[in-house]
Amino acid sequence: MEERRENWGSKLGLILAMAGNAVGLGNFWRYPYQAAKNGGGAFMIPYFAALIMLGIPLMLVEWNQGRYGGKYGHGTLGPMVYLQAREGVKPKTAAILGAIAGMFAFSVTVLLNSYYNHIIGWTLGYSYMSATGQYMDKSIKTGEFFGQYLTSPGRSLIFWIIAVAILGIAVMRGVQKGIEAWAKVMMPTIYVFGIILIIRTLTLSAPVRPDWTPIAGLDYIWSPKWNELNAKSALAAAGQIFFTLSLGMGIIQNYASYLKPDDDIVVSGLATVSLNELAEVILGGTIAIPICYAFLGPEGLSAGVGLSFVALPNIFRTMAGGRVFGTLWFLLLYFAGFTSAIAMYNYLVALLEEEMGVKRQIGSVLVFILYIVIGLPVALEPILTKKAELFYLTELDNWVGSYFLVVLGLLEVIVTGWLMGTKALDEMNRGSYWKVPNWFFNLFVRVLAPVYIIILLVSSTINYAKEGYFKLVPGFAESVPELIPWVQGARVVLLVVLVIGFVQSYRSIRRKYAEEIEAGKVIVVR
Ligand code: PHE
Repeated sequence: MEERRENWGSKLGLILAMAGNAVGLGNFWRYPYQAAKNGGGAFMIPYFAALIMLGIPLMLVEWNQGRYGGKYGHGTLGPMVYLQAREGVKPKTAAILGAIAGMFAFSVTVLLNSYYNHIIGWTLGYSYMSATGQYMDKSIKTGEFFGQYLTSPGRSLIFWIIAVAILGIAVMRGVQKGIEAWAKVMMPTIYVFGIILIIRTLTLSAPVRPDWTPIAGLDYIWSPKWNELNAKSALAAAGQIFFTLSLGMGIIQNYASYLKPDDDIVVSGLATVSLNELAEVILGGTIAIPICYAFLGPEGLSAGVGLSFVALPNIFRTMAGGRVFGTLWFLLLYFAGFTSAIAMYNYLVALLEEEMGVKRQIGSVLVFILYIVIGLPVALEPILTKKAELFYLTELDNWVGSYFLVVLGLLEVIVTGWLMGTKALDEMNRGSYWKVPNWFFNLFVRVLAPVYIIILLVSSTINYAKEGYFKLVPGFAESVPELIPWVQGARVVLLVVLVIGFVQSYRSIRRKYAEEIEAGKVIVVR
């Protein structure tokens, strides 16, 4: 059965789509508060260490898995990992490894995106409210305003549904006409808006206190503080690298599966990393942090998650031209989120196409319904409880948004580095303009990345135990007992999705490779 798979239309389109995949809310919303919370300058050291030892090797591994799987007609992770693992272990074992990988990718694309879509909805809502000046009235605090946005059953639902629907419409049109076409418009716009916002930020002088200049804000994050470096900031930095580069999610592989077998992956993979880092440390780091510093001082940086939706609106309402700059900021966030979420959306549509022969158009509608159903509790929690808390989201995020990525990353790097081994290096270098040298593969892919991830995983696990995430009632939920059912609900959903993911991936591998799994040797070769 030789099904035709779509390909990317052009190299530029591919790179913009991949960069769109990686450049997301992680860069503009998550990164600034992670950096601020973890000591600024003390964060950048482990951040760059993780980028080099873990980010770059894993990015190459994922492109490689995706292109290789695409050659066999696969766009999902289960079979991709199976195909590489069978080079080193019996097909039966490879099938289990593949099913585990597929399970994690499935749960991340279903669950992470189910709440990420809400944040995209907020950015869309806030773009609209910035443009129409709705939070400019100083009689209500921006924190309260955001709380009302979440707890009242109106705007938050409407903008969320609109956001998911637009994603669906884009995915429906396919890889070239949908994903690639939108990325070609949105990605350059992000950089343009980003530069405008940087110029505005750096020309703020010191509006509140003479020592609170935007430059002092930059200094805060850029001066290395070796003495403040600790396990917590190292963990946060590595987690950020996974998240921001879209690693351990299965979506880089899905995009890479639309490559032709000889398309370059080394240069393109590195270009993706570079564009992402440019957007993250230059744009992401030079807008939110210095603005907050200039208006709120070092204290203001501790706003955490609320940095984008509470602290910044507070600034936009006082600064000259705040409505315009607020609109630009939230549209930038929206575009960034959109071009990432579409990758997860497409993963699930590809899964339906591949597994059940569902047409892309129908698949897009089914995934729309899925995201609305699975995402509903995120919106309902604050609406029904009248509390501006997101425990359901938090519980899911603690697992799928950080822990799972690391587990899947480890599995991937072991399968490619050790099970497929040197064959993987040849595969990686086929058609590539720059060749990955032997020593890099041996040192970085086979040793440094897995060791780094194992350390990360062990310390995360210890940390999770300390924070009480393994307890029946996790630590963060203890203070608000009414919300505990939402946490438990999230756990049930998580479990169900994991089981479905495992069964689905295992069946999908068996469907195509049952013969060789039974025979215990490789038969299907392309
Ligand atoms: N790299 C993406 C980001 O930074 C991660 C992501 C992709 C998250 C798709 C959700 C959906 O936001």
